[in-house]
Amino acid sequence: MPKYYRKKSGINNWGLFAAKNFQKGERVIEYKGKKYTHKEVEDDERFDNSKAIYLFTLNKKTVLDGTIKSNTAKYINHSCDPNCEVDIIKGKIWIIAEKDIKKNDELSYDYGFGYDEDYKQFPCKCGSKICCGYIVRDDQRWRINRKFAKTKKARIKRV
Ligand SMILES: C[S@@+](CC[C@H](N)C(=O)[O-])C[C@H]1O[C@@H](n2cnc3c(N)ncnc32)[C@H](O)[C@@H]1O
Ligand SMILES: [Zn+2]
Repeated sequence: MPKYYRKKSGINNWGLFAAKNFQKGERVIEYKGKKYTHKEVEDDERFDNSKAIYLFTLNKKTVLDGTIKSNTAKYINHSCDPNCEVDIIKGKIWIIAEKDIKKNDELSYDYGFGYDEDYKQFPCKCGSKICCGYIVRDDQRWRINRKFAKTKKARIKRV
């Protein structure tokens, strides 16, 4: 029985959806890819920003290029309020249910992008109540929220 299926997503183009209920802590899918060193990725112009979104850092040495056909996990979109998390288990990247997930829910995880990684390139359309508007990892979203708060205050002052 398939555990997930691909479908058009309200977040972005394709998304991956649960084909069954998942319990919190259950392994959902492995993120597969071709292995490269960080240096190889930095030096290779094929990994420009449009492709960088499929790169997954495994450890200090290795990055996975998830564009390969067999990597169904590449269809999982980012959410600021995700239902999955990422864990490295025995050298493999696993997407794990962070909470109980119901059949037909869209699967999502926090892409973990840093605030400094030119966040404006990656606007977020996850639609969650706590979305900060950009694909930036949980512990750095306060920087964006602070920025917006300042802009809002400045606008109110001017009126
Ligand atoms: C790993 S893929 C995810 C699958 C993608 N939706 C597709 O159809 O191939 C990453 C791509 O999805 C987009 N994406 C993922 N999460 C997003 C989000 N929360 N908001 C906007 N775009 C998102 C990214 O901009 C990037 O182009
Ligand atoms: Zn969001």
